[in-house]
Amino acid sequence: MKEINIAILGMGTVGTGVVKVLKRNESLWVKKCGSRIHIKKILVRNINKDRGFDLSPEVFTTDWQDIVNDPEIKVVIELMGRIEPARTYVLEALKKGKNVVTANKDLLAEYGEELFEAAKKAQKDIYFEASVGGGMPIISPLKESLIANNIQEVMGIVNGTTNFVLTSMSKEGISFNDALKTAQKLGYAEADPTADIEGLDAARKIAILASIAFHTRVKFCDVYVEGISKITNEDIEYAKELGYAIKLIGIGREEDNEVEVRVHPALIPITHPLSIVDGSFNAIFVKGDAIGETMFYGPGAGQMETASAVVGDIIRVIKNINMNSVGNAVCTCYDNKAIKSMDNVYTSYFLRLCVIDRPGVLAGITGVFAERGVSLASVVQKNYMKDTADLVVITHRVREKDIQDSLEIIKKMSTTKEIVSMIRVEGME
Ligand code: NAP
Ligand code: HSE
Repeated sequence: MKEINIAILGMGTVGTGVVKVLKRNESLWVKKCGSRIHIKKILVRNINKDRGFDLSPEVFTTDWQDIVNDPEIKVVIELMGRIEPARTYVLEALKKGKNVVTANKDLLAEYGEELFEAAKKAQKDIYFEASVGGGMPIISPLKESLIANNIQEVMGIVNGTTNFVLTSMSKEGISFNDALKTAQKLGYAEADPTADIEGLDAARKIAILASIAFHTRVKFCDVYVEGISKITNEDIEYAKELGYAIKLIGIGREEDNEVEVRVHPALIPITHPLSIVDGSFNAIFVKGDAIGETMFYGPGAGQMETASAVVGDIIRVIKNINMNSVGNAVCTCYDNKAIKSMDNVYTSYFLRLCVIDRPGVLAGITGVFAERGVSLASVVQKNYMKDTADLVVITHRVREKDIQDSLEIIKKMSTTKEIVSMIRVEGME
């Protein structure tokens, strides 16, 4: 019976899940891909740590050369995360004729082009379904099932940790820090959770999705990013009162050969399906000229959920090996589109301004907005303190630069105590 040797780099949350899935369903692999799958090597940092698996000690190594220089290993699964040494190991593995499966969005969002070039040169596969959406399929659907479309937009929740934190704050009223600790315990967060909280993880994912959707290379540095660290329980309560949920949203949009890519918290109307995507779940809307609108929904993080996507890719590569068809997973960025400046993005805004509570203050502020063409949808005065009040404003769709310029002036007005929050509003009709 045919056996394919594979090696795993990194044995943390996802690596452990991959070994569990491979062992749990061992008897099925021959039927599903025509071969037994043999884990020949696993790269770890600490060889003495008990991994809780029935694997012989010779499987574990601390020397990656044992893997790249072993001609019997046909597939390398990179689950270490971050850029280096993952980038070097993946490039070397491809050079040495191995196929690669990775869940590493950091690497793909910065060095995607280099990796695809290397795979093309080596005529080997590189698959990365788990890099976006955890267990929720989105890369293959975009690359294959929706290829007939001109995609206009990809938009949704692409980070499980922040969605878990915001849901816990909103539904259970617990603090940001307590919610984050639980997300870490459940294996959702990155090794450094700042990447989740500050929106960097989501930015990497939206860069990968936009590159595939719009056939142009979008890198991490092209994405406008704001995280959720400034969102307070108070913001969430105000939003709820107005009929919105707060979510960290990733948006990629193409218009007239220009691509808009951004990640930031947003108020989402409670009538919009994204507002009820809770916990570590992810959901992505894709708009295309033939499909119209379609939504993908599923577990965005977690050990077994992510392992499901990684093992799916392993099976795909092994099938390709068995059919002599590796090397077809080529880069699809055949265009070169400009990235839209954030200044020129149009959306609506939720603003909380703490102002002195006296006649004429509201008129002064609305005057500043009016001068810059910022049209207001609603203004409510709330939360009266001794001589101040919170002005809660929702705007119509306006240009980002006009809002930012207005707020610069309002901030300096003697009647303004503080601009407490500025959160964009998405998903309105
Ligand atoms: P993790 O728990 O931190 O695991 C990473 C593992 O790699 C750790 O065991 C670490 O070893 C090992 N490692 C790091 N550098 C190494 C090196 N130079 N040599 C040998 N081993 C090394 O991370 P994870 O959550 O499993 O994530 C792995 C990848 O999957 C990342 O790219 C992540 O973004 C992606 N991903 C994660 C999820 C999720 O839900 N967790 C979902 C989708 C994608 P030590 O234990 O010794 O530090
Ligand atoms: N840290 C990531 C998240 C893991 O919370 O979504 C999945 O990519």
